Amino acid sequence: MFSIIPGLRHLGTLLNTFLPVLRGGKCHHHHTRPNFSEGLQSHYVLNSGDKIPSVALGLWKTKHREVGQAVKTALDAGYRHIDCARIYCNEAEVGKALKESNVPRKDFWITSKLWNASHAPEDVESSLDESLADLGTDYLDLYLIHWPVAMKKDGTYYHKELTANPYPTWQQLEEMVVKGKVRNIGVSNFNLRKIHNLTANPLKIQPAVNQVEINYFFPQPELLQWSKESGVLLEAYSPLGSDRRVSRSLNLPVVKEIAQELDMTPAQVIISWHVQRGTIALPKSVTPSRIVENIHC
Ligand SMILES: NC(=O)c1ccc[n+]([C@@H]2O[C@H](COP(=O)([O-])OP(=O)(O)OC[C@H]3O[C@@H](n4cnc5c(N)ncnc54)[C@H](OP(=O)(O)O)[C@@H]3O)[C@@H](O)[C@H]2O)c1
Repeated sequence: MFSIIPGLRHLGTLLNTFLPVLRGGKCHHHHTRPNFSEGLQSHYVLNSGDKIPSVALGLWKTKHREVGQAVKTALDAGYRHIDCARIYCNEAEVGKALKESNVPRKDFWITSKLWNASHAPEDVESSLDESLADLGTDYLDLYLIHWPVAMKKDGTYYHKELTANPYPTWQQLEEMVVKGKVRNIGVSNFNLRKIHNLTANPLKIQPAVNQVEINYFFPQPELLQWSKESGVLLEAYSPLGSDRRVSRSLNLPVVKEIAQELDMTPAQVIISWHVQRGTIALPKSVTPSRIVENIHC
């Protein structure tokens, strides 16, 4: 279904498949906004049995002074999934906000990512430990290899062997699962060739997740289809098109039309579309009203 059609047609499928769901029952007659309990899937179940919430707060480019408030607003609004990374350089502020929120640790999902300069097997655990300490937790729900590119420790040159085959890095991630520091492991920015390259190794644990760019402009239908068939859950980053293209996405006539029809906002239509396609959506915002808007799909 998703094999060759471009973005517009994907949104077209939303009208056919999503609209009847949202139009059903109370939602249509009372003109209330649809929400997860009435239509959208709130979680996906990973092979480990863990339930991962289908919408997360993204935290890239969220500045130090903004991040704590964004996390608190998100938790108050009902988010239970926070998308972090070592390279975002804001994990300490995230950890502080999580602690101050008093939401029990078992009730929210934290993802973090191993940065490119820490792929050497001897660097993986120490980098993870730094994330854990900053985030104020003794385990991550999900740990991803951020990019299929290994850099030297000084961050300048590619580490050729580890880039060509990240298996030694992956084995360390598997070890972190055995040690209980991480519950699920996955990758990010891996195209099909890179995934096949990794899974050609004798993995003890298959990648649960691949976090990649997916949006109207770059819907990645082949990767989505393969991932569904292979039990790898895709997470859509830059789901609204990122800073550069968010206003273009939200002003697409097809999006505006659906939004009007369903009494939703354009951002809610797009986030719903991601979840309807079977991916996780990771919208980033530091604006309280948008944080709330983005989870009420
Ligand atoms: N794995 C990776 O390599 C990778 C790469 C990129 C991103 N990511 C993850 O994906 C997350 C999201 O990606 P992204 O930040 O590139 O792009 P995005 O979520 O598509 O777009 C963020 C932009 O949209 C604006 N926005 C959010 N909600 C809105 C709404 N309801 N109405 C109008 N504008 C809205 C935000 O503004 P304000 O913040 O000013 O409200 C911000 O400018 C990141 O934060 C990160 O967690 C991962």
